[in-house]
Amino acid sequence: MFTHCNKTFILLLCVCYIYCDNASEIEYLKNLINEGTRQAENYQLRTDAKIHEANNDNIFQEYGTYDFVIIGGGTSGSVVASRLSELDFQVLLLEAGNFSNNGFEQFIRFAEPFHMYTDWNWGYKSVPQQFGCLGVVNESCLLPRGKGVGGNTLINDAIYSRGHPSNFDDWARIVDDASWSYDEVLKWFKKSENFHSSNSKARPAFSYHGTAGELNVQDRIPDTFLTDAFVRANEELGYHVTDMNKPSQIGTSIYQYYVSKTGRRQDFGNLFLKPHLKRTNLKVLTGSYVTNIVINPSTKRATGAVFTNAGRTYRVKAKLEVILSAGVIGSPQILMLSGVGPKKHLQQHGITVIEDLEVGSTLRDQLYVDLRFSSNINIPEESLDDQLKDYIKGIGTLTAPMVNQALGFYKINRPGSTPNVEVFSDLIAYSDGERRLMGFKPEIYEALWGSNNTHVSFVIENLLPKSTGTVRLKDNNPFEYPLIDPNVLAHHEDIDVLYQGIQFILRLAQTRAYQRLGLSYIANPLPPCRHLQFRSKQYWYCFIRQLSQSAFHPVGTCPMGASRRHGVVDSDLKVFGIKGLRVVDSSVFPTQISGHPDVAALMIAEKISEIIKSEHSSKTNGF
Ligand SMILES: Cc1cc2nc3c(=O)[nH]c(=O)nc-3n(C[C@H](O)[C@H](O)[C@H](O)COP(=O)(O)OP(=O)(O)OC[C@H]3O[C@@H](n4cnc5c(N)ncnc54)[C@H](O)[C@@H]3O)c2cc1C
Ligand SMILES: *[C@@H]1O[C@H](CO)[C@@H](O)[C@H](O)[C@H]1NC(C)=O
Ligand SMILES: *[C@@H]1O[C@H](CO)[C@@H](O)[C@H](O)[C@H]1NC(C)=O
Ligand SMILES: *[C@@H]1O[C@H](CO)[C@@H](O)[C@H](O)[C@H]1NC(C)=O
Repeated sequence: MFTHCNKTFILLLCVCYIYCDNASEIEYLKNLINEGTRQAENYQLRTDAKIHEANNDNIFQEYGTYDFVIIGGGTSGSVVASRLSELDFQVLLLEAGNFSNNGFEQFIRFAEPFHMYTDWNWGYKSVPQQFGCLGVVNESCLLPRGKGVGGNTLINDAIYSRGHPSNFDDWARIVDDASWSYDEVLKWFKKSENFHSSNSKARPAFSYHGTAGELNVQDRIPDTFLTDAFVRANEELGYHVTDMNKPSQIGTSIYQYYVSKTGRRQDFGNLFLKPHLKRTNLKVLTGSYVTNIVINPSTKRATGAVFTNAGRTYRVKAKLEVILSAGVIGSPQILMLSGVGPKKHLQQHGITVIEDLEVGSTLRDQLYVDLRFSSNINIPEESLDDQLKDYIKGIGTLTAPMVNQALGFYKINRPGSTPNVEVFSDLIAYSDGERRLMGFKPEIYEALWGSNNTHVSFVIENLLPKSTGTVRLKDNNPFEYPLIDPNVLAHHEDIDVLYQGIQFILRLAQTRAYQRLGLSYIANPLPPCRHLQFRSKQYWYCFIRQLSQSAFHPVGTCPMGASRRHGVVDSDLKVFGIKGLRVVDSSVFPTQISGHPDVAALMIAEKISEIIKSEHSSKTNGF
């Protein structure tokens, strides 16, 4: 029987247990952050894939036969492997990188720019640009791409943004297949979603969200004054609060993120694959770099893939299909190395042409510029310890990529209700580290923002640019990175959208809501634009060419089309002219969307998995 004293003692023990445990957890997490940021600041991005080279390239070992061989375990590949292995198919997933061990990458707050400077990023850069990214070192846009099981979800910002219904209705028209219309694809969006709202105001309709899927999606409790200022300033200009994933998307929204209920990154490898690794019909082989797909030149059927793993070369056979999910850069690269691509380009590099298709010819990326303002905001520094105390409760600044918790969608220079501009705002502290990690030339960054202050930054993103670029092979060596040319701002309309966006932000900063915070544009002329009248249209055009950067949303390098003249894959994502080969990832987007691409890639993976299952279900035994 317990005495009162004993009870108190046990209570104290419990308190101490919780406290002591927390203290060591906080120490552990603090170490992850300090080490992670330090290593990022000293990290050199890779420039090729030679770490995957085999010691002896001419000797193949057979790796066996599977029903499906999936190449790339990113956003889409993780989901396809998970869904196909629900049935009695033998599934092999080949991924060049590793599973995450929930180290530094668990903190969504450090996504940009720190997670870009880790082995979870392939580290691509564009070829030198002519019209944009000019203020970036070597005029090369940074093009981070996630490497590892989960792909970009290992390094991205986890913003849950589907795009506008009209984007998908356009797809349905382009591919002449009504199953791509928004009404049809909505069910695939909802399938993997588990939405819940922590925000009592501004939740007009939940019917656009799913609540029974694996992916935890939530809107974040607004950080009061910055979020309020953004929302109120927009109200003054006639933009009201909406849900960023509703058809009436234009206006402001509280962010929706796919972080776990405890505020951690949910990479798709850990989310969709880890729980199923005990399935005997699913094999996930990490550290496996695919060099090419094996295609029989006379039957034009894909029969397998060649890959390296730990210094050896293997060949694996696919009985039913090869599914290419290597992403916007990897998928066109592998297709071209396998003889599927623009005939002339392949011949130039001595690659035997199996199918002449416009692979890699329509790279579409979203582009942004950043305007920064000084203010009278005085934010009390919160110690890392305090932030971590919140973090282990699943709340606070470390559970979101940004401090401000609202964003806006707008349309500029276009009819209809489809937004083409997105704006978000955050606090950014000037630092040489930030400059280097964002890739800006020192003379540009310092001239503009070199005041050692924390500034209010507004990022203006052109969601539907008209410029298109290319992914081409440097040569026929699969261990070289391809040449990536987004050709940013090549189309004259694209620069005007960003210019109008700047004018909008200058007006937004003049609203009472922002004037209360003392917002004032940091009026330092940009050195390469000094010959132009400050803040004239010509000046801003020059500014945009210098300051533009990739928003890290490239799509469209193997687009869906109604016929082989207009695309690389058909509306079931089968490669035109080749049997047993599909591309399932964001390279199949025929256009950009008015949002961020990740959950649209997830939606595509869900939809096509279902199609693949029903096409092949009669061919397996056991069900
Ligand atoms: C920094 C950053 C922030 C972003 N933030 C957001 C956001 O907040 N919201 C959003 O919606 N989108 C965001 N995105 C974009 C989004 O994450 C991607 O569009 C999406 O993940 C693309 O998915 P995917 O399936 O096409 O390909 P990926 O995720 O790129 O997967 C491709 C996979 O294939 C593997 N692979 C490639 N080549 C080979 C090879 N030769 N052999 C074997 N494996 C190979 C790769 O390692 C990778 O795992 C962000 C992207 C970045 C880089
Ligand atoms: C810029 O280009 C030069 C010459 O090609 C190269 O040596 C250097 O590493 C590049 N810098 C960056 C940051 O990519
Ligand atoms: C994968 O992770 C393991 C264990 O952490 C490590 O030994 C290995 O080198 C990693 N492989 C690759 C390809 O990064
Ligand atoms: C910013 O701070 C650094 C280090 O304290 C100093 O070297 C630099 O001159 C400062 N820059 C400006 C513009 O004040």
